[in-house]
Amino acid sequence: MARAHVVFACQACGYESARWMGRCPGCGEWNTLSAADASPTPMDRVAEAVPVAQVPSADGERLEAGIQEFDRVLGGGIVPGTLILLGGDPGVGKSTLLLQVAAHLARVHPVLYASGEESAPQLRARAARLGALSPGLLVAAETDTGAVEALCARHRPALLVVDSVQTARAPGCALAPGSPVQVREVAARLLALAKTRNLPTLLVGHVTKAGMLAGPRLLEHMVDVVLLFEGERFSPYRLLRALKNRFGSTQELGVFQMGESGLDQVPNPSTLFLAERAQGVPGTVVGVTVEGARPLLCEVQALLATPAFATPRRTAAGLDAARLALLLAVLEKRCGLRCGQMDAYVKVAAGIRLEEPAADLACALALASAYLDQPVPPDAVAMGEIGLGGEVRGVPRLAERLAEAGRLGFRRALVPASAAGESGAMEVMRVRTLQEAVSRVFKASATG
Ligand code: TYD
Ligand code: MG
Repeated sequence: MARAHVVFACQACGYESARWMGRCPGCGEWNTLSAADASPTPMDRVAEAVPVAQVPSADGERLEAGIQEFDRVLGGGIVPGTLILLGGDPGVGKSTLLLQVAAHLARVHPVLYASGEESAPQLRARAARLGALSPGLLVAAETDTGAVEALCARHRPALLVVDSVQTARAPGCALAPGSPVQVREVAARLLALAKTRNLPTLLVGHVTKAGMLAGPRLLEHMVDVVLLFEGERFSPYRLLRALKNRFGSTQELGVFQMGESGLDQVPNPSTLFLAERAQGVPGTVVGVTVEGARPLLCEVQALLATPAFATPRRTAAGLDAARLALLLAVLEKRCGLRCGQMDAYVKVAAGIRLEEPAADLACALALASAYLDQPVPPDAVAMGEIGLGGEVRGVPRLAERLAEAGRLGFRRALVPASAAGESGAMEVMRVRTLQEAVSRVFKASATG
């Protein structure tokens, strides 16, 4: 016979254990385990399985917000009944973005924006500034998810925005808003609401430097989509990416610019990211990376300095520090540049993060340029992955990258020797190794 038994769950990470422990093995926090109900699996329900091909297709039902940069990151609009978490630092512009999305959609469908962060008059003032006073946009300064459910039943919105999960409360949960259990309860209620009403729901979650303060991992696996909105504090650019997407790729990047009247889309980000480029200065190289469907040009800057301490400093912004160390080692070992013991700083301009290995060549050439104190020609771009042997490896979608570079006025490109594809009007310099690239770009006497 099934016996009800007690399970202990960590209030911070959700780890479950059959016995109580002082320290959670899941997250290492102390005194976070407490008793949770574990209801035995109901035995009277008959489970069903359906042949996969007979499940009705949900294609073509996406709800387009009409803000292309937003729709594209989601994979072409919002899938009905999905719970989407939008995370980001406080002040990055999450409420602004969602109010704009809500207002856009509210021209056609009713939308409910429930905010626990701002009062209705504050929301009105913000909406007025954003040009978002759509008649179909309903706002409620509401923190109670039960009340939000009632509002949804009454107004039947096509989209629900809940701003934010940290201020919301679930009925029957007396814990402080923002605490892990409360956050999980709120998300569970909204998930049930989204699924039963087939109501797409956007949930805001503040993220702090230490991760999402309340229940980071907890929420990530409950929701269908996790979007992250990021930006450098002093830069007007805001980048939207999907960290998880059950209905599309996580490769797309949406670019916005924060201005006087809210967020503007940036359909041609390369132009902006290169706008303030210093030309003719040693240590800067333009690379071409592919973010989702679109090539993106970005400037990589490097600086080398005599080390201040015995252990050289490595600072990488927008680039993985381990990759910087690897590139420095390859430059030292394979190209004979004695930069392995120097302080090295690399920065990708405009707050972009280079994940793609194809950006290696641009980073390595920026370092070489800094070391040799010689600029790279301003009309040149570089792309290629660098191996430990110093070999320059192929990159996918070369023709698209070259076309984008050509469109922005670049005339020369350093590409891997193996790379296939049309070069168009671009003068391509095919290189086998990093050493070959360095000796062809910089004056021969300076290397070795
Ligand atoms: P907000 O959307 O409130 O951030 P979040 O919800 O992520 O906490 O955005 C806050 C910042 O955006 C604030 O510092 C002011 C700035 N901002 C503008 O520059 N222009 C605008 O039109 C708006 C609405 C905000
Ligand atoms: Mg906000």
